Amino acid sequence: MALKTDETVDYDFIIALVYERSRIRLHDGKQALIRARLGKRMRLHGFESLSEYCRFLKNEADEEELTHVVDSLATNFTGFLRERDHFDCLVNEVLPAVVPAGQKRINIWSAACSTGEEPYSMAFYLAEHRPLSAGWDWSIQATDISTKALKQATDGVYAEDRLNGLPKEWLRKYFQRGHGNWEGHYRIKPWIRERVRFQQLNLLGAYEMDRMYEMIFCRNVMIYFDRATQQELVRHLARFLVPRGYLVTGHSESLNGLSVGLRCLRPSVYQKS
Ligand SMILES: C[S@@+](CC[C@H](N)C(=O)[O-])C[C@H]1O[C@@H](n2cnc3c(N)ncnc32)[C@H](O)[C@@H]1O
Repeated sequence: MALKTDETVDYDFIIALVYERSRIRLHDGKQALIRARLGKRMRLHGFESLSEYCRFLKNEADEEELTHVVDSLATNFTGFLRERDHFDCLVNEVLPAVVPAGQKRINIWSAACSTGEEPYSMAFYLAEHRPLSAGWDWSIQATDISTKALKQATDGVYAEDRLNGLPKEWLRKYFQRGHGNWEGHYRIKPWIRERVRFQQLNLLGAYEMDRMYEMIFCRNVMIYFDRATQQELVRHLARFLVPRGYLVTGHSESLNGLSVGLRCLRPSVYQKS
């Protein structure tokens, strides 16, 4: 058996730390990613080698620093109207089927919201199809493990090229255009931002929610978890769905073969029976 070098031991330590806190599996071969992403933290603290930084993490680092490590390594890739059929499903299928006649209140949860494009896309769809002016009252809970992503989400400021897929008219309706230093950027209008409640939450921790949801988006995050963790997570999320409520996963995430107590309507779309 080959002996492990100090460097391999350091990478293994980081991989284990990230797995323990987020259940994200950074497979072997992610050394370059780890080096690139943690470089900034190392420089900030004046460490020249990964092993010095690892020693610091083991012996002295506080919670905040450990959160930075997870933040730096969790991939936050997302986009407005990503996997758009799920937003169509929300307004065309879920709301007519799940919200009882006469109920005007709607609660939706974006359970790994990253930098906010997903929950804001939900808000745009709801604003289009269930306008507040017609007496609808909706709120969107948006959670993520990454404080860095949540900061950007709460600010709601996006560079113009991030908005390419959105109808032009929505830019006017839902965004304020930046000027001066903010030229080339757009900010979500306050009345939309107020409808989205951002909160840090580790999906694999022990948590309760203060309400039930008609629909939960848990997309493109389960892919990082092993099957047992996925099953446990989905069973936990299902507890917060109203009867007949929907859960959607990312298109490349399948719950096939897992015992989660949800009916599969089609790939990536599940309903509480
Ligand atoms: C690829 S993004 C997906 C964003 C969005 N749901 C989408 O589909 O566009 C994955 C997100 O999951 C978050 N994440 C990873 N592990 C998590 C955990 N244990 N609890 C909550 N969020 C987590 C990451 O911080 C990241 O923002």
